[in-house]
Amino acid sequence: MKPSTPIPLWLLAEVTYACPLQCAYCSNPVDYPRYSKNELSTAEWVDVFTQGRALGALQLGLSGGEPLVRPDLEELIAEARGMGYYTNLITSTVGMDESRLKRLRAAGIDHIQVSFQGANAVANDRFAGTESFEHKIAMARAIKESGLPMVLNFVLHRENIDQLPAMLSLANELEADFVELANCQYYGWAWQNRSALMPTQQQLTWAENYTNDFRDRLQRKMDVFFVVPDYFNNTPKPCSNGWGTTFISVTPDGTVLPCHGAVVLPEAEFPSIRRNDLKDIWHQSSLFNRYRGDDWMKQPCAGCDSKGEDYGGCRCQAYLFTGDAANTDPVCYQSPQRGMVDAAIAEGGDNTAWQYRNPKNSRGLIQPIIASTT
Ligand code: FES
Repeated sequence: MKPSTPIPLWLLAEVTYACPLQCAYCSNPVDYPRYSKNELSTAEWVDVFTQGRALGALQLGLSGGEPLVRPDLEELIAEARGMGYYTNLITSTVGMDESRLKRLRAAGIDHIQVSFQGANAVANDRFAGTESFEHKIAMARAIKESGLPMVLNFVLHRENIDQLPAMLSLANELEADFVELANCQYYGWAWQNRSALMPTQQQLTWAENYTNDFRDRLQRKMDVFFVVPDYFNNTPKPCSNGWGTTFISVTPDGTVLPCHGAVVLPEAEFPSIRRNDLKDIWHQSSLFNRYRGDDWMKQPCAGCDSKGEDYGGCRCQAYLFTGDAANTDPVCYQSPQRGMVDAAIAEGGDNTAWQYRNPKNSRGLIQPIIASTT
């Protein structure tokens, strides 16, 4: 069954893949440098935002890479705000200072998410591959002082998950409104570095229990989200709230995707804002229609009672593991390929060296590795 008239409420603008950090779990494509040659101009982004609003989009995420690398970020925010978007900046804060924060505020930014890689300078700077911790602390304080809502985001993996108590204390001390403890999801660079990043079941259970206790003890208002890595679940996540229902992601060169991971799929040609209207891409393109609704599903998804809740899971993950995006997400206990996920979990810890996300390492990783667990 196809959904009647989906509206893309969320528009994610990956305005650049340039970034001063080098996180080994970055979700950007491993061949990200090729997008830098051909970034959309200010006018092209404004056109994307205009077309997104016309389609019904309300939330605009400005991410990257590091969106602060774009000198026109304030202009983009002002334009988007003027169209009525709720604007979120997803940033490491590297590239921000107090005067730039004032300009972002004046442009109308509604909300800022600050990413940390660890709970102290040693851990943060090691995982980021770049000295940045003290700067982030100063900017987080400045953001709070400016009165903007602030989310702190910690991506958890095997090497930093034991810092969880210190991360929560830091978020509390910085008076974050929300803290997101997002266990690593394995796309992009994280897929390449998976065995080095994979936590143990014991670490996860401890971290989730600690987070629940912390929530109970917390005196002030701070929402704490603990995002479990789906490999450790038996049923798949409803990725992107269902393909082509809610999200549009636009890459720095104007490629238009139903989710930020879809760039790994073997498309002869991805839709681009430089060739087509967003409306045509959303309603007519084969990429956006391919996994809408449930007509495309094979067994066991087709006959599953949960298909209206999990939509068969993640198409990109199904492709990365099995080479066919129409297969059931192998996270599902009913998938004949569930053993691949179990093997990936078991493989965690074998390898403790990761590759930082940088152009030098990118050169050797142009093709996604399919089913590296087979
Ligand atoms: Fe693409 Fe899940 S990341 S569908």
